[in-house]
Amino acid sequence: MKVLALESSCDETAVAIIEDGRLLSSQISSQIDIHKRFGGVVPEIAARKHLEIIDRMVSRSLEEADLDIKEIDVFASTMGPGLVGSLLIGLSFAKGMAIAMNKPFVGVNHLFGHVYANFLRYPLLKPPFMVLLVSGGHTEILVLKDWDRIELVGKTRDDAAGEAFDKIARLLGLGYPGGPAIQEAAEKGQAKYHFPRPLREKGNFDFSFSGLKTSVLYFMKKNPLASVSDVAASAQEAIVDSLVTKAFDAAESLHLDEIAFAGGVASNSLLREWARVQSEVSGIKAYFPPVDLCTDNAAMIALVAHEKAKRGLFSPLSTNAVPYLTL
Ligand code: KG4
Ligand code: ZN
Repeated sequence: MKVLALESSCDETAVAIIEDGRLLSSQISSQIDIHKRFGGVVPEIAARKHLEIIDRMVSRSLEEADLDIKEIDVFASTMGPGLVGSLLIGLSFAKGMAIAMNKPFVGVNHLFGHVYANFLRYPLLKPPFMVLLVSGGHTEILVLKDWDRIELVGKTRDDAAGEAFDKIARLLGLGYPGGPAIQEAAEKGQAKYHFPRPLREKGNFDFSFSGLKTSVLYFMKKNPLASVSDVAASAQEAIVDSLVTKAFDAAESLHLDEIAFAGGVASNSLLREWARVQSEVSGIKAYFPPVDLCTDNAAMIALVAHEKAKRGLFSPLSTNAVPYLTL
């Protein structure tokens, strides 16, 4: 079964084709350079840019997979969560192709997509396992109980981890997106300052990152000559410490011996390093998708769609974009 999937929930236009779980093509076009000057994604511009290039991206993906559109069995798209205008471009285009080619359509939850990025690298990984989902809008500890069933264990009470990276980077004048900018600055500095790691009581699997941002802001006001690289390294360490400590504590307390990391923040090199060390200490295995499949891509969407299509779970053409779709 060949699945062509589109992903356009934020500022990446992505198309992928998989055949029975095997990746034939994954095309990603990022709008980062356009939104950079505004310090974040401008929704109206994002939607227009998706619209401008989505047809060419589909052609390019079909070329890469060496397929004709007639050979595609299922068309899929992210249906939420995300920016409504951006979501509607991918969703409408995928439904349009399904109607034109008289083939079924599958709408996919973007968050499931991030979790499924792990199966692209580890096809033998089997639920149940713990998931740390860390993206621009989400920070959640979850258990994937079955292929389509996920349970919440803990979540952020305010900012998401990616949001904390983005806000702290802006405050330090490091630009957008903040995660890669902080990671790069941190490599030149030392984590010599201690920023807060809240909600550390045993058995508390929730996160809070808004205090960290405020703490960095006050620190910079008090110490205007502090090295930005040192502050970036210290802030990054505070975020990574919270994420790794809580994810491993949660896995241990629920007697799960595997943690799959997912979402844009899972590409962070310090997070990967600390998780690797903690994994050796605890015996709990840590899984990370390849870096380019941690951030938004369509391969992960195609894989979820394939799982649904295999079971005949197609979506009606009335499927709408759901900006606040949850797991
Ligand atoms: O999953 P994603 O691409 O989009 C959402 O669904 O939100 O995640 C984007 C988030 C941004 O906040 C970005 O700053 C963060 O992931 N990010 C990183 C890194 N690369 C991307 N955070 C930390 N370190 C990175 N290397
Ligand atoms: Zn995402």
